[in-house]
Amino acid sequence: MKILSTAILLGAACVANLTAMAANSSDKEIIRVSTDNTDLLLEVAPNGRLYQTYLGPRLLHDTDVTNFTWRQSTGSDGSVSPRGWEAYSTSGNEDFFEPAIGVIHADGNMSTYLYYVNSTQETTNGVTHTRINLRDNQYPLEVTLNYQTYPKDNVIKTWTEIRHDEKKPITLTGYASAMLYFNEPAYYLTEFSSDWAKEAKMTQEQLHFGKKVIDTKLGSRAAMHTHPFFEIGLGSPVQENSGEVLMGTLGWTGNFRFTFEVDNAGNLRVIPGINPFASSYSLKAGEVFKTPEFIFTLSYDGAGQGSRDLQAWARKYQLKDGMGSRMTLLNNWENTTFNFDQNLLAQLMKEAKDLGVDMFLLDDGWFGNKYPRKDDRNGLGDWTATASKLPEGIPGLVDAAKDAGVKFGIWIEPEMVNPNSELYEQHPDWVIEQPNRDTYYYRNQLVLDLSNPKVQDYVFGVVDKILSENPDVAYFKWDCNSPITNIYSPYQKDKQGNLYVDHVRGVYNVLKRVNDKYPDTPMMLCSGGGSRCDYEALKYFTEFWCSDNTDPMERAYIQWGFSQFFPAKAMAAHVTSWNKNTSIKFRTDMASMCKLGFDIGLHELTSEELEYARGAVANWKRLQPVIMDGVQYRLVSPYDTNHMAVEYVGSDRDSAVVFAYDLSPRFCEKINKVKLSGLDPMARYSVKEINLMPSADARCPQDGKVYTGDYLMKVGLDLFSDRPSTSMVVELNAVKS
Ligand code: GLA
Repeated sequence: MKILSTAILLGAACVANLTAMAANSSDKEIIRVSTDNTDLLLEVAPNGRLYQTYLGPRLLHDTDVTNFTWRQSTGSDGSVSPRGWEAYSTSGNEDFFEPAIGVIHADGNMSTYLYYVNSTQETTNGVTHTRINLRDNQYPLEVTLNYQTYPKDNVIKTWTEIRHDEKKPITLTGYASAMLYFNEPAYYLTEFSSDWAKEAKMTQEQLHFGKKVIDTKLGSRAAMHTHPFFEIGLGSPVQENSGEVLMGTLGWTGNFRFTFEVDNAGNLRVIPGINPFASSYSLKAGEVFKTPEFIFTLSYDGAGQGSRDLQAWARKYQLKDGMGSRMTLLNNWENTTFNFDQNLLAQLMKEAKDLGVDMFLLDDGWFGNKYPRKDDRNGLGDWTATASKLPEGIPGLVDAAKDAGVKFGIWIEPEMVNPNSELYEQHPDWVIEQPNRDTYYYRNQLVLDLSNPKVQDYVFGVVDKILSENPDVAYFKWDCNSPITNIYSPYQKDKQGNLYVDHVRGVYNVLKRVNDKYPDTPMMLCSGGGSRCDYEALKYFTEFWCSDNTDPMERAYIQWGFSQFFPAKAMAAHVTSWNKNTSIKFRTDMASMCKLGFDIGLHELTSEELEYARGAVANWKRLQPVIMDGVQYRLVSPYDTNHMAVEYVGSDRDSAVVFAYDLSPRFCEKINKVKLSGLDPMARYSVKEINLMPSADARCPQDGKVYTGDYLMKVGLDLFSDRPSTSMVVELNAVKS
C-alpha cells in the first residue's frame, strides 16, 4: 500500500519534471538513453521504482519502446515479487542478488529503497546527458543516475551521485557506478589479467550461475594484477568481426571491482565500480559522493568494431590532446639506468637528434642531494637535481637539448617517497604508514597520503616548480611504482574507510591543477609499466606506458590486448634491447604500430641498423596521421595464429599502413594471405613495402603494384612468412587517375 501511494505521488511529479521521456502514456514513464546504434530503456514501474527494460541494438520504431513490461519474479509458492531489473538496485530490498548501493543510515538502518523523482535530458555539442533523480521514501537520501551518450561513436558513459541530509554521516558500504542487465542464452567474459611485464593478458571463460568478481586492492599502481576493462560475448564467445559484445571500462585509478552475476533465472547483471574493500565510506550531509565513470559500448559486429568506436571516442572526448600529434623520443632508462651525468646526457641528446626523434626523455635518477638517487632506495620525494651528477641542474639539461636540437622531457614519481629522503624526514605524517606495526616496503618506497590537501599542494608544487622555472621542459613521464602498503592515514583519523577513495581523488585534484595550468604539456602515464591504464587518468595524460616488457614477441600480445580499449595514440611503445636476438627491424616495426619511441644505446647498433632506424623514424613521422588517427583493423590475432597483422586506414580511405609480424611460425607451416579491411572497394591503391633494411629488397610480392580496394579486401596480400621474428610494413596509397 505504502509503495503504491508513493508511486502515485511520484507519478504526479514525473509528469511535471520529466523531459527525458520518449513515451509518456498515463501508465508508462520511460526514459530512453540512445546512441545511433544502441538503446537503453528505463521505465518507472507502478511501484514508483526505476527498472531497466531493454539494452541492445537500437529499436527502429519509436512506438516499440512502450512494448516492454518490467520483469517480476514468481516465487516457488506462486507469489509474485516486484523483483526485476532495478536500474540501481539497493541493499536490503526484495532483490536477493548483488546490489549497486549499500547504505548504513545515520540511525543504523541498513535498507534503502529508491523511488523515481524526475529526470532531465540535455544535448550539448552532440553529446546527450540524461540525469535521473531517485530518492528514498523514508530517509533524505538522493541518488542521481547519469548517462552521457555519444551517438556516432556508440559509446555510453554512466556514473552516479549520492547525497543525503541525514542528521549524522551515513556509511556507504557499496557504491557502484552503474548496473546493467542482460538476458542471453550464454555469456562469455574476456578478462585482462596482468603483472609486471605481463600486461593485458586476455583470457575468456563462460559465466554460469553465481558471481565472477574481478577486482584490485592495490590502492595506487592499482591495475598491476588486472586492468579496469572487460568484454562480454553475449550469446556467443567474443569474436573480432561478428557477434554482440559488451565492452566496458572504469575510469578509476584506484581499487576497482567488476561483479558479473548470473542469477537463478539466467539473467546477467554487470556491476562496475570502485572496490568497496576496506572502504566503508563515511559521507557527511550535503556532500556528494560521485562515482567514477563507467564507459561502455555494445558492438553488434564483434570486438573490432567496439574497439574502433572506443578509440575514436577517446581521441575526440577523453584523452588529453586526443586530436593532437605525438612526439617520438629517445629515453635513457634501459640504456643507462641510474648511471649518467650531464656530459653523457648531452651526448645522448645529440644521438636523439641523429636518430631523428623529436625529444630526449631523461628517466629516473636525476634528483636528490642529501640522499642522491643512485638506486631505488634513495631520494624519492626530493625533486632537486643531484649536483654531483648534474651541476647545472635542469636548466643545463634544457640548454643541452636546445643545443642538440631536440626537446627535453623528464621523469617524475611525485606520489611516492623513499624513507631515505629529506621529505620523509621532514613530513613523516604525510606518508601512508601504520603507526603501530612494522612497515613493509614495495620497491623500497612508500605512498604519500594524497587524501591530505597539504600533500596535494606539495605534489602539485613538484611539477609547478619544474615547469615554472623551466618553461622549455616539454614533457613529463609520471610514474607510480608502488601499491599502497601499510594502509593508514594520519590525516583521515577515524575515517580510515575513506582513505582508498579520497587518496585517488587527491591524485585527480593534483592532475587537474597541473592540467589547468599546463594544458599543453604532454605527459606519459607510467606505473611500473602498464599498471595505470584508465580513462579518468587519461584525461590528464596524452599516452600511457604499456609495459616495461619491450620484448617484441611479448609486446605483440600486450599491444593487441590494450588496443581493445585504447587508440594507438595513447599507447607508448619503445624499441629497446629486450630480446635483442630479434632484429632491430622486428623490434622497431613492433613499436611502430603504437606511439614510437626508443630506449636503447645507439652505440649498440651497426651503421646499417642505425640507417634503418632513422628511416623507420622518418616513415613513422610521415605516416603519423594514419597510424595515430586512422581507423584500426586488427586483421590477424596472435592469440589465434603464429602471426599478427594490424592495419590503420587514414581519413577518406586514401591511405593505409599494414603491420604484419611472424611471431613463432612453425617450419613450413601453411601461410595465408592477409585480407585487408576498411578500404574503398572502388579505389585503386599502390602497394609499397617500407621500413626495409638498407641492403634488403622488398619481400612483399605485391610491392610496387596497384590493386583495387575490393581485391585487397577479398584476396589480400602476402605479408607473412614462416621465418620467426620477422615483419613487414606496407603502405597503401590511393592512386588518383
Ligand atoms: C618504472 C618504469 C620504467 C622506469 C623505471 C625507473 O619501472 O616502468 O620505465 O621509468 O620505473 O625507475
